Amino acid sequence: MGTSVIVSDKYFLHKRSQKIFDFKIGIERYLAEGSLLHGQHIASVRNRCVECHGQDLGGRRIIDHLGSGVIVSPNISPRKLDRWSNDDIATLLRMGVKPDGTAVVMMPVYETQHLSAQDIASLIIWLRSVPPVTGIEPKISPGPFLTIPFALGVFPAFMPAESGIIRKKKVYQPYLEPQISPTYGSYLARTSCVACHGLTLKGGWIPGLPRNWPKAKDITKTGIGSWSEEEFVATMKSGINPAGIPFKVHGTPEIKKNFYDLELRALYLYLSGVP
Ligand code: HEC
Ligand code: HEC
Repeated sequence: MGTSVIVSDKYFLHKRSQKIFDFKIGIERYLAEGSLLHGQHIASVRNRCVECHGQDLGGRRIIDHLGSGVIVSPNISPRKLDRWSNDDIATLLRMGVKPDGTAVVMMPVYETQHLSAQDIASLIIWLRSVPPVTGIEPKISPGPFLTIPFALGVFPAFMPAESGIIRKKKVYQPYLEPQISPTYGSYLARTSCVACHGLTLKGGWIPGLPRNWPKAKDITKTGIGSWSEEEFVATMKSGINPAGIPFKVHGTPEIKKNFYDLELRALYLYLSGVP
């Protein structure tokens, strides 16, 4: 065990310091299509940036555990991001690489990579609008529960840009008009549910997290297919499923309440048909 920890830490540090991209994903020409309110909705409800980076975006201790190590997410308020260009932010969300070309860790880039240019533009507008805060000192010191599964190739989401699960195309997902359609539901699921429910949406243990965390549930046809649309919407808003069982990890009552009905109905239409 001791040796494998050292080996995997070296492997991790080596991988993390490697420069892997040297291009930027242009966002400037889409900025006029973004909206502050939409950005706030994505950051606080759909993608929940605030759950990891803190309500004030000053950074947050998201993991502190003997096996998983310590991960303190960085400050992403204007105090920090003022030094980043809009393209720097877009490239991080789309490709999972920082301005110095190295790979980012733990950021759910396999979700944000699928955001449309308009959604990313909205996020940038919102990120630039919040008050700057001093925040806390970030720390990325992952333990063996994170680095070993990554080194073995079973936890690609840990360093998504390194592990090949990022679409390396220099284009954005086309913009989809919000509407109650399976296409829009699939967009929402890919951009905000797969991080925990898995790429197949069948649920299971969330990689890298301590074993005492609840497993994510199956949210495909076999999991929620027997629920009505009303039951699904009510479940997402209340955090209590149709069997009356409350579930954890779905954010604060505020987050749940603020999902738009249109989004939940589109999600239901899509998810209840996923085999
Ligand atoms: C699961 C937790 C998590 C969520 C959710 C999350 N982030 Fe992060 N984010 C991180 C961690 C951890 C890092 C630090 C990664 C590193 O340094 O390798 C990070 C890094 C960043 C950085 C780079 C900052 C820097 O100084 O290097 C930006 C910008 C960022 N996140 C923006 C966002 C936005 C916008 C969202 C919502 C769309 C978001 N994050 C959602 C965990 C998260
Ligand atoms: C931060 C991780 C995370 C994210 C993101 C997430 N979920 Fe979950 N979800 C979970 C976990 C873990 C459970 C099971 C919790 C428990 O058993 O207490 C769960 C449970 C559920 C349930 C209840 C299922 C049941 O049978 O009781 C539904 C429905 C659900 N999630 C839908 C979604 C949808 C739709 C999205 C995307 C919009 C989503 N989740 C995003 C982690 C997450």
